[in-house]
Amino acid sequence: MRVVETFAEARRATEGRVVLVPTMGYLHEGHLALLREARGVGETVVMSLFVNPLQFDDPADLDAYPSDLGRDLELAAAEGVDVVFAPDVDEMYPRPPRTRVVLPELGGRFEGAHRPGHFEGVATVVTKLLAGLRPDVAVFGRKDAQQLAVVRCLAEDLSFPVEIVGVSTVREADGLALSSRNVRLAPEDRRRATALSRGLFAAADAIEAGLRDADRIEAVVAASLREEGIEPEYVALVDRDEVVRLERLDRDAFLAVAARVGSVRLIDNVHIDLTAEGPAVDRGRFLATESVLYRRRT
Ligand code: PAJ
Repeated sequence: MRVVETFAEARRATEGRVVLVPTMGYLHEGHLALLREARGVGETVVMSLFVNPLQFDDPADLDAYPSDLGRDLELAAAEGVDVVFAPDVDEMYPRPPRTRVVLPELGGRFEGAHRPGHFEGVATVVTKLLAGLRPDVAVFGRKDAQQLAVVRCLAEDLSFPVEIVGVSTVREADGLALSSRNVRLAPEDRRRATALSRGLFAAADAIEAGLRDADRIEAVVAASLREEGIEPEYVALVDRDEVVRLERLDRDAFLAVAARVGSVRLIDNVHIDLTAEGPAVDRGRFLATESVLYRRRT
């Protein structure tokens, strides 16, 4: 595995079908699932590791973002990553970017409404990664459902010859979606945080039992949060591609929730495919043992 810091070195280190997995590091099994998917579809797997200041609307969140390069490199090597592209801020942004990628509609709703400028930062850095590394495939997690929609949209609109692949959410054994930010949850909040996935799964059960009305589906999630005294920023049944709220579940969608638990802002969702046999809900994959997030390095 090679670790490089510049776009030029990264391009020189790749050959054949190139698969890119963008990350901000502090890897967990969610990232590893993306790397495994990547390993299966291409010759060269490139993992980018860059904590992108442009997408943090809250400076305190950027400062508190965890990092452990040594552990990340060990985990990436074990997944068969060929190239780790870990630029510093000067390589990514030699000067404040004069060009930014804005998706006024898709990027303005839900996460975009609660985190002004967030998707502009994401879209700009992902565009730079696609342009600078020229992957054939890029892999993203369904955990960040709106981000996945934003990336699919910009790749199509800007004519990047790249295939975008989405991978199911990886969860802890008790349902909490893995996130690098989970390590910042106080123990009591870590327990309360399971209300998000519990609510989504209860709603998924109701959907599979025939519920289609968005208000009622969202109310199931909200009730679960209320039991733990958590106030959601939003709960919404959303069209998968256009990221607009649906009144009824009548097309492929995701059911998304965002809430602050203690000092940590969490998001989660389930993807719902409307198949000929009825709705199929992707609840994600559950870990059997504790996440590597909590493993101390030896
Ligand atoms: P980061 O939060 O590090 O996530 C990197 C990738 O891992 C994203 O595609 C995200 O959706 C995926 N991911 C995170 N948690 C996951 C989980 N529990 N299960 C499955 N996939 C999961 O998302 C970003 O970084 C940044 O916005 C980035 C795209 C790198 C641009 O800076």
